Amino acid sequence: MLDHFSREINYLRISVTDRCNLRCQYCMPEEGVKLLGHKDILSFEEIVGFAEAAVKKGITKIRLTGGEPLVRKGIVELVAMLSKIKGVNDLSMTTNGTLLDKHAEALAQAGLNRVNISLDTLDAKKYCQVTRNGDIEDVSRGIQAATKTRLTPIKINCVLLGQPIGEVNQLKDFCKKNKLSLRFIHQMDLRTGEFSVVEGGDGGNCSQCNRIRLLPNGDVKPCLFSDLAYNIRELGNEKALNLAIGNKPKAGTYNRSATFSQIGG
Ligand code: 5AD
Ligand code: SF4
Repeated sequence: MLDHFSREINYLRISVTDRCNLRCQYCMPEEGVKLLGHKDILSFEEIVGFAEAAVKKGITKIRLTGGEPLVRKGIVELVAMLSKIKGVNDLSMTTNGTLLDKHAEALAQAGLNRVNISLDTLDAKKYCQVTRNGDIEDVSRGIQAATKTRLTPIKINCVLLGQPIGEVNQLKDFCKKNKLSLRFIHQMDLRTGEFSVVEGGDGGNCSQCNRIRLLPNGDVKPCLFSDLAYNIRELGNEKALNLAIGNKPKAGTYNRSATFSQIGG
C-alpha cells in the first residue's frame, strides 16, 4: 500500500519482547527499564493475526526484533507460524547473537531466512563493557551457527561509539574473512530526534522509508522517530494498520513515548 508520500509500505518490523539479556550502553540503562506485564504483551496469535492483515495490505518482508527476540519463550514456534503466511518472502531477525548457537538450527528449519547480528567490537573486554557484561564468545558461537545453518546473508550491525580505527578495521577484516556484511549505525537519540542513515543499509532515509513497526504491547508505529501509535487491541488490526500507514509522517521528528529496547531499532 502507498502512503501519502507515495512510499510503498512493504516492510514490517515486529518487536516480540521488551526484554533483553544484555544492557548495551546506548540502548538501556544499567538497571534495565520498566518492563511490560505478561498480559500486556501480545500473544503469538495476536502477532500472527496482525501480520496476516499486514500482508493483505502489501507487506512482503518481516523482521523480528526486541529487546532480544531470542529471549521470548517459544520464538521458534512464532517463526514457524509467520513463515507459513503466504506472501511473506523475506523473514529475518535482528539479534544480539548470544543465544543463537542454541536456536539457529531450529530457526532455519522453522523458516527464518536470515539474521542481523549486533556486534560493535571484537575486543572481548570492550564488548563486555559496551553490553554491560556480555561474553563475546557467545556471539562468536552464534555467528558460526548462523553461518552453518545458512541464515544468510548475515549482516553485522556495528553502532559507532568512537571506536579507534584499529578496532573498526579489525571488525572489517573479520567480516570480510567470514563473508559477513558489515553495516555502521550512528548512535541515535529517540528523544531529541537525532538520527542519520545506516551506512551500508537502508534505514534512516525518510523519503525511501517503507517500514511500519509492531511493538510488544500492540502499538503499531508508523515511524521510529514519532510518538504516533495505533494499538491493535484498542482498534483492531485493520484500523490500526490503516491509521499507521495513512498517518506515516513525511519525516521523523522525535519519539518520547517508546525506547530502543521496546522497538529494537
Ligand atoms: N542508536 C542506534 N542504534 C541503536 N540500537 C539500539 N540502540 C541504538 C541507538 N541508541 C540498535 C543497534 C542494535 C539494534 C538491536 O538496535 O543497531 O544492533
Ligand atoms: Fe539488548 Fe540489543 Fe539493546 Fe543491546 S542493543 S541491550 S542487545 S536490545
